[in-house]
Amino acid sequence: MLAVAILAAGKGTRMKSDLPKVLQPLAGSTLVERVLSSCEHLQPQRRLLIVGHQAERVEACLAGHGGLEFVLQQPQNGTGHAVQQLLEPLAGFNGELLVLNGDVPLLRPETLVRLLQRHRERRAAVTLLTARLADPSGYGRVFANADGEVSAIVEHRDCNEAQRCNDLTNAGIYCFDWRRLAEVLPRLTTDNDQGELYLTDTVAMLQPAMHLEVQDADEINGINDRLQLAQCEAVLQERLRRHWMAEGVSFVDPASCTLSEGTRFGRDVVVEPQCHFRGSSNIGDGCRIGPGCLIENSSLASGVEVLFSVLRDVRVAQDCSIGPYAQLRAGAELEPHCRIGNFVEVKNSHLASGVKANHLSYLGDADLGAGVNVGAGTITANYDGVNKHRTLIGADSKTGANSTLVAPISVGERVTIAAGSTLTKDVPDGALAFGRARQVVKEGRG
Ligand code: UD1
Ligand code: CA
Repeated sequence: MLAVAILAAGKGTRMKSDLPKVLQPLAGSTLVERVLSSCEHLQPQRRLLIVGHQAERVEACLAGHGGLEFVLQQPQNGTGHAVQQLLEPLAGFNGELLVLNGDVPLLRPETLVRLLQRHRERRAAVTLLTARLADPSGYGRVFANADGEVSAIVEHRDCNEAQRCNDLTNAGIYCFDWRRLAEVLPRLTTDNDQGELYLTDTVAMLQPAMHLEVQDADEINGINDRLQLAQCEAVLQERLRRHWMAEGVSFVDPASCTLSEGTRFGRDVVVEPQCHFRGSSNIGDGCRIGPGCLIENSSLASGVEVLFSVLRDVRVAQDCSIGPYAQLRAGAELEPHCRIGNFVEVKNSHLASGVKANHLSYLGDADLGAGVNVGAGTITANYDGVNKHRTLIGADSKTGANSTLVAPISVGERVTIAAGSTLTKDVPDGALAFGRARQVVKEGRG
């Protein structure tokens, strides 16, 4: 039997934030969600989350994760006090308890598997993860012999000079024999610099206590402040970029680009400098993105080119070309071979194949048929101050430069709209439509 408990009740004072620390974002998901996903594959029988500071907010954020038991810790009197709150919900539980710090988000799932293996092999009362850090300041120091047996953990602030020289660091990740832990939990005292109950103090009371040292020290990075948050973000970004390079994506200047876990790339994609991918996006084979793009929750088929543009919540079919300086907003759907040029905004619109809108236009709530040519400065006036209305333009029609289409309006196929027109009425197939004042020239009056 395996239970997992995640400590997520602390305030995170050092973040200086209104947001609870475990809800801080890292490469698009929160710290606590990352910790949760690092243990999912172990398929624990119980998953408990210890909440306290802004508990409702943390619970609301995790509402979509089924089977989580929330345990309230009020007030928050240290990590040992947090785990004491499990005595009631885990009364009668007989098995292993894996304790994870909610602020250690880079842990690899394989490492937890190895931790459990080591724990079982050595029949330990507790096994904890450690690493040797170049700068262990702020972390608890682990005192162990050459055989991996741990005698004690001393918090940085409680260490003397000599103890601080020990660089073997506590990750805050432990596998306990729950029944043995439950026996010693009530014996914790607040006899330390912070006057809190420390979970780390149980280790000296539980023997044999073992540790497993991880080689990649980044895995145990804990996040207490914004600097550590940024450092973890950098580690995650590097992991993501390396992964996608190995899968056949070229980054011209990798360090200048950021990715999210939910972004997928096809083969032979080229990502130029300063491109940012967020949420869940799919970038098809052979796309060329950048420089200077933001792409969020969007799907691009193969061979799409995007230059200096922003795409959010959109779908783009193959071989479209977008930018420079275009904005595609929620609900924009482009069929193959569309061309969207500079200073064109498209929102909640369907563009059939081969539509061209090369310059200075707004297409909102519109349906454009195949091959429509949108003249420079064409505007769909979709909003009457209260409601949004649709504009329909049939296949192979052309809008003249500076046309305004006041929606709701339906323009047929093969229509030509004269430059500078403001149209308020429907236009039938094959027509030429004017909607402007005739030019008047009075000679000699200039
Ligand atoms: C803790 C460890 C330290 C270890 C480090 C690793 C203790 C006493 N120290 O220190 O040895 O090197 O983690 O990152 O455990 N929390 C609660 N309730 C509380 C206090 C904290 O749920 O009353 C939660 C926090 O939300 C956080 C986690 O426990 O997710 C760790 O707390 P934090 O205060 O950050 O501990 P550290 O000082 O980093
Ligand atoms: Ca911490």
